[in-house]
Amino acid sequence: MDVNTVPLDELDVITARQYGEHGYPHDAWARLRRESPVHKLHPEGYRPFWAVTKAADITEVSRQPEKFRSFGRFILMPDPPGADPDEIDNNMPLRMLVNMDPPEHREYRKLVSAWFTPRAIAKLEQRLEDITVEIFQELAERGDDTYDFVTEIAARQPLRMITEILGIPREREDFVLKITNQNFGLEDPEFQIEGETLDERLAFISEAFAYFDELIAEARANPRNDLTSVLATAEIDGEPVPQFELYSLLFLAMVAGHDTTRNAISGGLVAFLDHWGEFERLQANPSMSPIASEEIVRWTTPVNHFSRTATVDYELNGAQIKKGDSVGLFYASANRDEDVYPDPFEFRIDRDPNPHLGFGIGEHFCLGAHLARLDLKVFWRVFAERLESLEQSGPIELLHASFVGGPKHIPIRASFRLD
Ligand code: HEM
Repeated sequence: MDVNTVPLDELDVITARQYGEHGYPHDAWARLRRESPVHKLHPEGYRPFWAVTKAADITEVSRQPEKFRSFGRFILMPDPPGADPDEIDNNMPLRMLVNMDPPEHREYRKLVSAWFTPRAIAKLEQRLEDITVEIFQELAERGDDTYDFVTEIAARQPLRMITEILGIPREREDFVLKITNQNFGLEDPEFQIEGETLDERLAFISEAFAYFDELIAEARANPRNDLTSVLATAEIDGEPVPQFELYSLLFLAMVAGHDTTRNAISGGLVAFLDHWGEFERLQANPSMSPIASEEIVRWTTPVNHFSRTATVDYELNGAQIKKGDSVGLFYASANRDEDVYPDPFEFRIDRDPNPHLGFGIGEHFCLGAHLARLDLKVFWRVFAERLESLEQSGPIELLHASFVGGPKHIPIRASFRLD
């Protein structure tokens, strides 16, 4: 399909297949930004939504949570055939920060925000460094030099950190990984079983909740210095956090806390493989890892979109949005916006300023942004310092997902310096 000649309404910026087979639809977004930056689309299998593709418009929406609520359709997924849209929106299997609105959202966010301040997160730096080094040591000791960078390297460091933050023991890491893959892979054939119904596919949420029963009971009996203990003993209006909300919060921290960072790490490697000179600059000067990490988040934008529902009629950049309409915020498009960046399609690890929207903006700005930044900064420093040789040893496969996207497998042959 030539994205410059098809009618605008036929541009595909949402199907999992598009993302799995061709990657993020940057050409289609560039055209929408030029010709119709707030454009109503009605792809088959989806209820209609407005595709918002410019940074200023995404910011305008995100800063007005009263006019654009997160409750309801907070991500754009295909509708199960025959389903009643009101039913889908009102019976979410989870009630997390991402689908709550003020004032309740602020109450719940307060419960966890102290854990994620820059000061609290900075204390984790040494531990993160140890975890990262340990991962490379384990690989180097394996006596084999071929790896899947995504599953064996990129996934491991953020996973190990978030499980420690939540007080989940290391032997349950693979369980957390399985749940996360099923959550973000809802649209990906690799994580589906033929003939499964949606309810069966969502069974992993009950599995996670059953595990939280154990974790919370332990945390209440013997509170420790971890996030689960903080939440298990926290109160809202003088009462313990209701069970559904408590479990949803844990679920969100568990999955949002590493899958996104994993995709930034694996997407970052692809960016470096395509721009090797930029990796050589980082290797020559590993202290550039913080600024390089910002460019990696801009370039890869692992959280591609979130969605809002208009609570009033609203004119956005000339488009007439009606109360009840869905509004898709395409952060990955905003991060290539020509009005923000003079050279949006260049990958430069020293880009400054870099006001990207990779962590969102406004009311729901990523709670874990400081943790993600530290994860990435430590990862890329250690990787640049320890990598001795690297070559891609097979084709890269992409996730079939338009919500949190990126590489699914990157086969590599590599060696790392041991201590
Ligand atoms: C590179 C990694 C990450 C990226 C790109 C990312 C991106 C985002 C984005 C775009 C949002 C905005 C949601 C919205 O507007 O509705 C968000 C929210 C959130 N993120 Fe992250 N995130 C990352 C890592 C993390 C980590 C490590 C955590 C750790 C727990 C985390 C926890 C959250 C939470 C709890 C929210 C919801 C905040 C709210 O609704 O108030 N994220 N993230």
